[in-house]
Amino acid sequence: MAGLVSHPVEPHANTLFDRLATRRLLVVSGKGGVGRTSVAALLGAALADRGKRVLVATTGHDDRLAWMLGAPRLGDQPQAVTERLFIQRLEPQTCIREYGGLVLHSTRVSSAVFDNRVIRKLMRAIPGLDDFAVVGKAWHEAIRGGQYDTVVFDGPATGHLLFALDVPLAILNTVPKGPLTKEAELMQASFEDPSRVEAVLVGLPETWPLTELVELGEALRERIRMSVAAIMVNGLWPEDFAEFAEMADLPPGLGEVGRVGAVGRQQRESIASWQASDVVRRCATSSLLTLPWQWGGLPHLEAVRAWLGQARAAALHGGSQSVE
Ligand SMILES: Nc1ncnc2c1ncn2[C@@H]1O[C@H](COP(=O)(O)OP(=O)(O)OP(=O)(O)O)[C@@H](O)[C@H]1O
Ligand SMILES: [Mg+2]
Repeated sequence: MAGLVSHPVEPHANTLFDRLATRRLLVVSGKGGVGRTSVAALLGAALADRGKRVLVATTGHDDRLAWMLGAPRLGDQPQAVTERLFIQRLEPQTCIREYGGLVLHSTRVSSAVFDNRVIRKLMRAIPGLDDFAVVGKAWHEAIRGGQYDTVVFDGPATGHLLFALDVPLAILNTVPKGPLTKEAELMQASFEDPSRVEAVLVGLPETWPLTELVELGEALRERIRMSVAAIMVNGLWPEDFAEFAEMADLPPGLGEVGRVGAVGRQQRESIASWQASDVVRRCATSSLLTLPWQWGGLPHLEAVRAWLGQARAAALHGGSQSVE
């Protein structure tokens, strides 16, 4: 099928992926359903292609990440999909036990503590503990575990992500000094270090959702002090019929043609007016990447690689590249 051919990654997109490949933890976020998991899979493939050993860790409840990368299902233990690319679901209960074990320096002690029925009940009443364990586990694998060069964390959607990433600071502000605050301190220090940890934000090509995404970027920078590496605008439709016909493998002359072109143009206009607006100046990044809508979906790794070859970089502000 046309569109499944892997093209070499466009030079400016390549430069962005090269930069992302030097980070230890990439936190992918955006609103629900915009393509966070797809972008996490794309980053996993891009970084593994650069020779990195990568774990894509998701909090998602379905098996989509596994399907996109060619595995039948997703488990709560790491699973290799290629020599260098691994996937895993981060389940709060498992993370609490495992990450708790790391903090307590013993999984046996941790299991004894966390498998206790009374303690489990008590813990459910502590807001943020689940999130802390999940973020902590992703952070541990990325920064301290030593098994991976990079962890791509397909975390919760917008508001919930801020809540989860806020937990280390909340601990530092409220909990007396001890093993938990030591962890929170280490975690927070790496969140604040853009050479190790950055966020990648995903949004749809519409002015208002992209404006909201900038607000998320601002909140990450101001509240969590985490840098935003790039904004990825996902689901761009082609602007002209020839491109559409090639991608969708359709005979020419269908009634949809005009509509596709109109949607594609409308999306580009929305991005352009957002790029030109003041709001974009508040954005903590200058890197923008557009990702086209894939008519055949993203059913396996080769499809993700083909998609990667169609990623286009554009400058977000102050630069000369615009979205084509
Ligand atoms: N560019 C694209 N082309 C084709 N299909 C896409 C594209 N981006 C996302 N999809 C499809 O849209 C659906 C939603 O994408 P995805 O699961 O990545 O979103 P999400 O933000 O992780 O959603 P959730 O909030 O449910 O976790 C999936 O079936 C995915 O394969
Ligand atoms: Mg998802």
